[in-house]
Amino acid sequence: MSFEIKNNVFSVGKTDWQEQHFHGQAMALPHGTSYNSFLIRDEKSVIIDSVPKQYTSDYISKIKEIIELSDLYAVIALHGEPDHSGSLGHLLAAKPDLPVYCTTMGEKSLRGYYHKNWNFKIVKTGDKLNLGSRELTFIETPMLHWPDSMIAFLTNDNILFSSDIFGQHYASEFLYDDLVSNCELMWEAVKYYANVVTPYNTKAKKSLADLKSLNLPVELICPAHGVIWRKAVSEIINTYEKWADSYSENQISIIYDTMYESTRKMADAIAQGIRNTDKNVKVKIFNSSKHHLSDIVTEIFCSKGILIGCPTYNYGLLPSTAALLDEITGLKFSGKKAAAFGSYGWSPASTKIISERLEKSGFEIVGNGMKVNWVPSEDMLAQCRNFGAEFASSF
Ligand code: FEO
Repeated sequence: MSFEIKNNVFSVGKTDWQEQHFHGQAMALPHGTSYNSFLIRDEKSVIIDSVPKQYTSDYISKIKEIIELSDLYAVIALHGEPDHSGSLGHLLAAKPDLPVYCTTMGEKSLRGYYHKNWNFKIVKTGDKLNLGSRELTFIETPMLHWPDSMIAFLTNDNILFSSDIFGQHYASEFLYDDLVSNCELMWEAVKYYANVVTPYNTKAKKSLADLKSLNLPVELICPAHGVIWRKAVSEIINTYEKWADSYSENQISIIYDTMYESTRKMADAIAQGIRNTDKNVKVKIFNSSKHHLSDIVTEIFCSKGILIGCPTYNYGLLPSTAALLDEITGLKFSGKKAAAFGSYGWSPASTKIISERLEKSGFEIVGNGMKVNWVPSEDMLAQCRNFGAEFASSF
């Protein structure tokens, strides 16, 4: 069923309770997600974004509860990724000359995905579309998180349609931020930022500054995923500003993989050393082969420092550590410290590889890495505790 958010503005998207992964398997979605699409009914009625192709039938039914497709004036494609554009083809098949408002890069991505000569109307920051009783103002937000991304502000009702920005993979029958668990909501919001937006922090900062400089009287933020922000509107904007600025909390995360528990024992001893040195720092330990990479990325995002441990395996790393380092490289974290540790039998290669990868990824490396030959003795575990203490003391 569609839902009227405000004065003939309807939510017509899809709440997806069953989806457990996103971007392939890259992101775990324990709370499902939603693909938000909005219908603004006015003298000129428009649809903002759509839903994945597999949900087209439900989606079209929801729209038809409110308006015939033939009565639509235009589609606004804030972003071309298929989770938001998958049903456009059906809408446009029903009305082939329906204008598709998007950015220059939006046209490129939509042509690339669908190979259709749709009636593209290119908009730039500041362009307006008069709907009759109110108008939409477009604001480009390039690389937040795709080159084609933009957002739109609806005057009079003061609604910001923010595309992926401020989104959360969070399915709920309650559509608003103040009606759901704040803990769950903010975890999904920060996880979304950490995994999707972090590589574009610089762009995010600029887009947020541009948005603030417009002094828009935003009353509702309608993102493309998750619940609508109506209570914590300024809070989520301010929080995004913090997240975009080399964010960290007083947390150190230890992430390891292990074959015969040696590196796991090192991780525990390092954690003890950190705790012995700093009673206030939050220390968390994760096994990278057991915890989902997207959750670990979120914890790294929240950490001021990380230690990555892995035994030497085939003169290199275990697969989960290699995957973690690949992910970290792409995310371009800044302002964080790191160190490496690991056990080995006949080749102490892993710590060197980890340290080099972390340094290339922008981390400040502390120490030369902690290596243990075969199984850690009591003396070696004491050295690991010292290693953890030195890491904690480096802040
Ligand atoms: Fe939710 Fe960037 O697509």
